[in-house]
Amino acid sequence: MQAKTPGESRTIMTDLVLPSETNPLNNLFGGELLARMDRAASIAARRHSRRIVVTASVNHVAFNRAVPLGSVVTVEAAVSRAFKSSMEVFIDVWIEDRESGSRTKANEAIYTFVAVDETGRPIEVPPLKPESDIEKLRFDAALRRKQLSLVLAGKMKPNDATELKALFV
Ligand SMILES: CC(C)(COP(=O)(O)OP(=O)(O)OC[C@H]1O[C@@H](n2cnc3c(N)ncnc32)[C@H](O)[C@@H]1OP(=O)(O)O)[C@@H](O)C(=O)NCCC(=O)NCCS
Repeated sequence: MQAKTPGESRTIMTDLVLPSETNPLNNLFGGELLARMDRAASIAARRHSRRIVVTASVNHVAFNRAVPLGSVVTVEAAVSRAFKSSMEVFIDVWIEDRESGSRTKANEAIYTFVAVDETGRPIEVPPLKPESDIEKLRFDAALRRKQLSLVLAGKMKPNDATELKALFV
């Protein structure tokens, strides 16, 4: 299968924060942001694989900054590494300043999607070819994150997590 770049899966979704989507402090409700990130990331995984994709795990979410009511929020997702049937997707969340139009990074997350056939069985996806420095950094660390996710899910023995062990020896 021919390799694809992160740019080929990049998915950008921009939307407002409405009153029904906020918590009692008038900031975006965390679950609403998770759903927006899941939607953008699943489109990115679908664009990379051109298959049906399912969310296998949410590996990391950092709610670093509250997102106030009325904000214009941009969720940007791209595949950061493809394995056999699974894909790691990085999601960056930006808020746009109303007056200057400048963007501030508010949050980020890393999701794992698996491409499946019509019966739900995992199916192979194209490899990923990173281009920019940040794409290469994310690509290089992805195997470590995959192993950590599998160990936490009880699907890999810690002793088999070679990339994780390499951090400590
Ligand atoms: C995700 C799913 C397809 C994996 O199926 P499975 O029978 O565990 O298949 P496998 O063990 O062969 O794993 C398939 C791939 O997923 C990866 N994977 C599975 N669980 C993972 C996890 N927790 N973290 C990271 N990767 C994971 C495996 O490493 C494997 O990757 P690879 O093929 O690239 O090497 C299956 O668990 C599923 O359908 N889950 C429900 C998904 C869903 O409905 N999501 C929406 C939430 S409501």
